[in-house]
Amino acid sequence: MANLSMTQLKTRNSASRFSFNFSKKVYPRPSRVDFKVFASEGQVSEPDLSVKVNGLHMPNPFVIGSGPPGTNYTVMKRAFDEGWGGVIAKTVSLDAAKVINVTPRYARLRANANGSAKGEIIGWQNIELISDRPLETMLKEFKQLKEEYPDRILIASIMEEYNKAAWEELIDRVEQTGIDAIEINFSCPHGMPERKMGAAVGQDCALLEEVCGWINAKATVPVWAKMTPNITDISQPARVALSSGCEGIAAINTIMSVMGINLNTLRPEPCVEGYSTPGGYSAKAVHPIALGKVMSIAKMMKSEFDSENYSLSAIGGVETGGDAAEFILLGANTVQVCTGVMMHGYGLVKKLSLELKDFMKKHNFTSIEDFRGASLQYFTTHTDLVHRRQEAIKQRKAIKKGLQSDKDWTGDGFVKESESMVSN
Ligand SMILES: Cc1cc2nc3c(=O)[nH]c(=O)nc-3n(C[C@H](O)[C@H](O)[C@H](O)COP(=O)(O)O)c2cc1C
Repeated sequence: MANLSMTQLKTRNSASRFSFNFSKKVYPRPSRVDFKVFASEGQVSEPDLSVKVNGLHMPNPFVIGSGPPGTNYTVMKRAFDEGWGGVIAKTVSLDAAKVINVTPRYARLRANANGSAKGEIIGWQNIELISDRPLETMLKEFKQLKEEYPDRILIASIMEEYNKAAWEELIDRVEQTGIDAIEINFSCPHGMPERKMGAAVGQDCALLEEVCGWINAKATVPVWAKMTPNITDISQPARVALSSGCEGIAAINTIMSVMGINLNTLRPEPCVEGYSTPGGYSAKAVHPIALGKVMSIAKMMKSEFDSENYSLSAIGGVETGGDAAEFILLGANTVQVCTGVMMHGYGLVKKLSLELKDFMKKHNFTSIEDFRGASLQYFTTHTDLVHRRQEAIKQRKAIKKGLQSDKDWTGDGFVKESESMVSN
């Protein structure tokens, strides 16, 4: 049973193990990318999408991110039936009665001019809180799902107030349902911080260390800490969470945002009785920001934590297999999708899998590990870029395509000159 092996793993990986690994320089896992050749026409075998993360086996790296797509038994069952590698349920807390949602709580940004209703949705803002369903109901549904799908990975997302006993009770109760792992929501940017929950903990490294200590002393299944992007350096709280015993990092949660102001009513959106509150931004528009945050965490993890025991679950604006491949190339073990499922449905996993396989076939990668983290080595400092550029010019004695320096810009050819500096 997966649960048994995870229990053993957790015992082995608890805080004492961390102190051994913390700040330890580890040898980077050798990349096999450089040894790969491009696929020949005769290649027939299908790439293997399966992953093993913190002892958990998944048929593919695609995981439902905590939110509406994991809000009850019916939708989580649907996710398993459609083939998602794992499901992270909507965040639960001990007392759902304290969670009071409002409507409307979503607002969307469309790509074309003036936000025409026909434009493609590229940004999604929500002011939704964690689950407002009674904990007992959610726990009953977790148990039923694990009974019906014993081999599938169900992860409980939890959040509590700054209270050790409350965290311990919540962990105990979710573990009794047979869930495979726990994700800690240290990252919800709206509503919950007013109760010193969510991002209020994730943005305060001292608080985070203390709460992670409570959690990891209690939990017997792997624990992932879900990070907020609403902080200057996301690698700092990620380091604290791992050093306090968590097995994995999940990032990012939504980005604090104001979706817009209605120019007729002068009221902000989403508008509740004439007022609004800053919310969390997600979907395609956040993907580049998520890539940046994941890159920063992955670099820190690669240099300080060994990749066998620690995992990274990347989240943010995934709608295609290519989006997922980008996260994996940065070092992610799994890729979560939330808004993408709200927009395209649970069948999205089939498209994601096909597109990821196509990418793998193109490069003759047979497994996720063949290319995981392969692009991380290509991030460096700007100073180093300048040096490499100058060296390349010298060595090749070639005429540079772009402009040499800011002094060469001319007003007349401005658009053409800008174009010459774009990389794609
Ligand atoms: C409507 C909505 C509700 C969400 N609720 C939760 C939640 O309860 N717990 C949580 O950890 N993240 C929650 N999230 C954040 C998502 O899990 C995810 O981190 C974020 O939306 C970025 O990924 P995406 O672009 O794939 O949606 C929610 C997101 C949305 C859009």
